[in-house]
Amino acid sequence: MSAMIEVQVTEVRQLTPVVREFSLRAIDGTLPGFSCGSHVQVVLPIEGRTLRNAYSLLGDPRDVGVYRIAVRLQEASRGGSRYLHEQVRVGDRLQIGAPSNLFALHSQARHHILVAGGIGITPFMAYLAELEAQGASFELHYAYRSGLTDAYAAELRQRLGERFHGYDAAAGQRLDCTSLFAGKPLGSHLYVCGPQGLLDELKLLANAHGWSAGRLHWEAFAAPEPGQPFTVELARSGQRLQVPGGHSLLEALEAAGVEVPNLCRGGVCGQCTTRYLSGEVEHRDHYLDEQQRGAALMPCVSRGGCSGTLLLDL
Ligand code: FES
Repeated sequence: MSAMIEVQVTEVRQLTPVVREFSLRAIDGTLPGFSCGSHVQVVLPIEGRTLRNAYSLLGDPRDVGVYRIAVRLQEASRGGSRYLHEQVRVGDRLQIGAPSNLFALHSQARHHILVAGGIGITPFMAYLAELEAQGASFELHYAYRSGLTDAYAAELRQRLGERFHGYDAAAGQRLDCTSLFAGKPLGSHLYVCGPQGLLDELKLLANAHGWSAGRLHWEAFAAPEPGQPFTVELARSGQRLQVPGGHSLLEALEAAGVEVPNLCRGGVCGQCTTRYLSGEVEHRDHYLDEQQRGAALMPCVSRGGCSGTLLLDL
């Protein structure tokens, strides 16, 4: 991971009962520029260990005076979102990584179709600033539950007019994914950020409508899930590590001083690919194919089996 940036929380806004927005300013100097769709890793010291959660940057990419992120409280998470919701206040200092972009806007698209599910609206907040500045052709489809996950919905409805299409689950409204592909100009690109079921449905439909893979862009909710404890051994040093149920393998390696390249920490970017030599693996990534999984794993999300030792080529 690149050098850390020290920031101070300058504003906290409770957008819905489960979504909080944080504004962050650099302690020294200025923040690095970013492109829309970028995320940053936020370092969260929790109960003697360090989590690094990735959050999309919400603001206008031309304004690097402040970064903004929005965090959904995840009841089943390992504590990162709860820490941000319950512990972090205005004036607190945090460490973040430099922005990186795994979900960039396609500069040649003639029309942009943005599809957000719940907190998946966050990368599109920066997209919208960019698209409006370019005078680009776009439409936003946002599925949410009013009073719970409808962050920015009222503001966007007013700002975007007929380019905004909202679907409120609390009112029984549902996004008809098939309609997204009807009558769209040649050269349209579709971008989706939301739950896995939404991504899977849109991938299938894009394929069925003859869209090339390069016209569909997606960002999954990327976060490691807890699992069973397991043991790994590092083949080159002989070091053995116990990975507790609430820690990822990547975190256990980092705590032991083993550096592994990483960007998304959610099994989608491919940066942390690590070879293993023997042992059982519970693959949880969205990156490796079945053949690759025979020799490699993504330690940011994947785990060893509960029996035996996983031998890593490290
Ligand atoms: S850090 Fe991106 S796949 Fe592991």
